[in-house]
Amino acid sequence: MEAVHYPVMHREVLESLPIPSGQALLIDCTTGEGGHTSLFLSKYPDLRVIGLDRDRVIQRKAIERLSPFGDRFTPVLCSFDEYLASAKPDSADAILFDLGISMFHYLESERGFSFRRDEKLDMRLNPDEGISAADIVNGYSEEALADVIYRYGEERYSRRISRAIVERRQEKEIELSSELAEIISRAVPREYRYGRIHPATRTFQALRIEVNGELSRIEPALRSAIKVVKRGGRIAVITFHSLEDRIVKWFFKDEAAKDDAEIRIITRKPIVPSQEEEEENTPSRSAKLRVVERI
Ligand SMILES: C[S@@+](CC[C@H](N)C(=O)[O-])C[C@H]1O[C@@H](n2cnc3c(N)ncnc32)[C@H](O)[C@@H]1O
Repeated sequence: MEAVHYPVMHREVLESLPIPSGQALLIDCTTGEGGHTSLFLSKYPDLRVIGLDRDRVIQRKAIERLSPFGDRFTPVLCSFDEYLASAKPDSADAILFDLGISMFHYLESERGFSFRRDEKLDMRLNPDEGISAADIVNGYSEEALADVIYRYGEERYSRRISRAIVERRQEKEIELSSELAEIISRAVPREYRYGRIHPATRTFQALRIEVNGELSRIEPALRSAIKVVKRGGRIAVITFHSLEDRIVKWFFKDEAAKDDAEIRIITRKPIVPSQEEEEENTPSRSAKLRVVERI
């Protein structure tokens, strides 16, 4: 797998978040390596960006990459739900979320996000906070573990996988991503082991979501974003799997349907990557972009 250096749906994101002329503010809630932010700062010379991330290592990369823009980029190390909850109302012209994790996390972070690597099972975006994937795998009851794998991985063999994990850890703690991947491969039926995706894909996704509380942060963040964006300003959200997309879709639908609605939906159907982008950048395949405007 090769690292991808351009941001997902970059043209579509720029088009759906028009920035007014003059001094304007974009909040990039998931700055990552700064790909989207860099495009916005280049396109709009008077724009300022507040760029959030929970991960200090990837944030350092963004700071370096965006240094040519000087003080037009302000990095903040914070989870987006926490930042937006106390941000000034009506202060941003646009807000962008590009949810999930970056290729950096799989390829360079050494925190066990990838089942193809031999790394300590951690998976925390902020390793100073919360519990690691190893704590979950070695500490949750068999039932709780199966529930996480089923709910956040939509894994049909969750019970088998959880049982195999518990059996193994009775002999020895599970420490490495490669060990866990091997336990999962052995636990599932043969045809699934050699199926379309690696049999550990869903379990690894589930652990990552559980470790970082990813899903529970989305709705509160969007609720705050509606207050923080100015009237006429837009919020764009890119999701990468159905669990995330469902939350975003229904939250926006419910909000837009209220009698005193504060938003209108710009994208009736989500925008998806062009065929060209899908071919060039395989991980973009599952991406969906939804946009709303504050009214
Ligand atoms: C898909 S990447 C963003 C890539 C970015 N748009 C770019 O063009 O480089 C998602 C980023 O969001 C960060 N992230 C995930 N959850 C977060 C949260 N709750 N608050 C802030 N940042 C978060 C991850 O650490 C990761 O760097």
